[in-house]
Amino acid sequence: MQEQIEFGNDETKSHQSNTSPQPREESAFIGQQSARIGKLLSDDDISPQVTTLLPDGSHIAKLFHGSAQDQCDHLLSHYAPQQFRMIYWDPPFFTGRHHQAERGEFSDEWPNLSTYLAWIKSHMELWIPYLAENGFLVVHCDWHAGHYIKVIGDEVMGWDNFRNEVIWHYTGRRQSARLRINSKHDTLFIWAKSAAATFTPVFDPWDRDEYVRMKKQVVHRDEEGHEWIWGHRGKGQSHAYRIYLEEVVGRGRAIDSVWDIPIINTSAKERVGYPTQKPFQLMARLTELCTEPEDWVWDPMMGSGTTLVAAISKGRHAFGGDSNAEALRLTQMRLGDLSNS
Ligand SMILES: C[S@@+](CC[C@H](N)C(=O)[O-])C[C@H]1O[C@@H](n2cnc3c(N)ncnc32)[C@H](O)[C@@H]1O
Repeated sequence: MQEQIEFGNDETKSHQSNTSPQPREESAFIGQQSARIGKLLSDDDISPQVTTLLPDGSHIAKLFHGSAQDQCDHLLSHYAPQQFRMIYWDPPFFTGRHHQAERGEFSDEWPNLSTYLAWIKSHMELWIPYLAENGFLVVHCDWHAGHYIKVIGDEVMGWDNFRNEVIWHYTGRRQSARLRINSKHDTLFIWAKSAAATFTPVFDPWDRDEYVRMKKQVVHRDEEGHEWIWGHRGKGQSHAYRIYLEEVVGRGRAIDSVWDIPIINTSAKERVGYPTQKPFQLMARLTELCTEPEDWVWDPMMGSGTTLVAAISKGRHAFGGDSNAEALRLTQMRLGDLSNS
């Protein structure tokens, strides 16, 4: 049985009940589910599988110990549907390995590819009712089965709702090879629930010298000493307007679909020893792109809880689950560290 732990004072606890996902009282959904009305509950989790935390004193993290299917059952009986702005899913990748590290293990062994893909499809279908109309489903995978997952995702979510393939590129030890060159990226597929979903623009810092090198233009100075270069409006209009360097550099550079983010190496401070732990920086960027403050994020296979740590750090609320008890312990520890920082 999971212990119920709350961080924060009484004031923050009362805030918790105000901002929690809405019980389904007014939902039309309830009409269709009248047989379940007897089971309708307020936001107080009475399930022994749920631990509620307030890691930063106001944002809610709910941890669920159990399978993805159990999490769906819990959500169905406790909360309004369509409440998550982002569902991030980092499933086993079909590596054929049993992943083991200092603090945790999970199996990624399958009889064959079709068994794995059937599992992927049935789980992806589970998430959809819980995704907000303006929400995003993000599936993290790699070369082992990523191309099949894209096809399955298009079937489940609709090809028209596919938004981006993000390449998470990382460095690391490289070896010369004759059969396969070094594979140093993972893939994140992003589908929207509907046309209503919009990203929040995210910018990388621009370095002035890098910008000038990329533009390959003469830098001018105006009467007040501000640097500028010519902006163009197509052929024959190469000197159309001034672009001031401090404005461009100050605004930053809109991100593209290749994200260079270091992998968590063995001596990294954020490493907690759970196999395939994802970097905070990756999850923080994804959270900022796909959600807004106070939105809810769900990670049904959260492992060491990176998604929840990023969500809370960015002022979102988070629901996360895993069938592995060690994953719960680690996530709880990391969220506890947030509340102490
Ligand atoms: C790739 S790891 C997630 C790593 C995580 N993103 C992190 O940063 O630590 C996949 C997780 O899925 C969990 N898992 C596998 N099948 C599951 C299921 N049916 N229900 C819930 N969790 C499951 C495993 O226990 C494992 O922790």
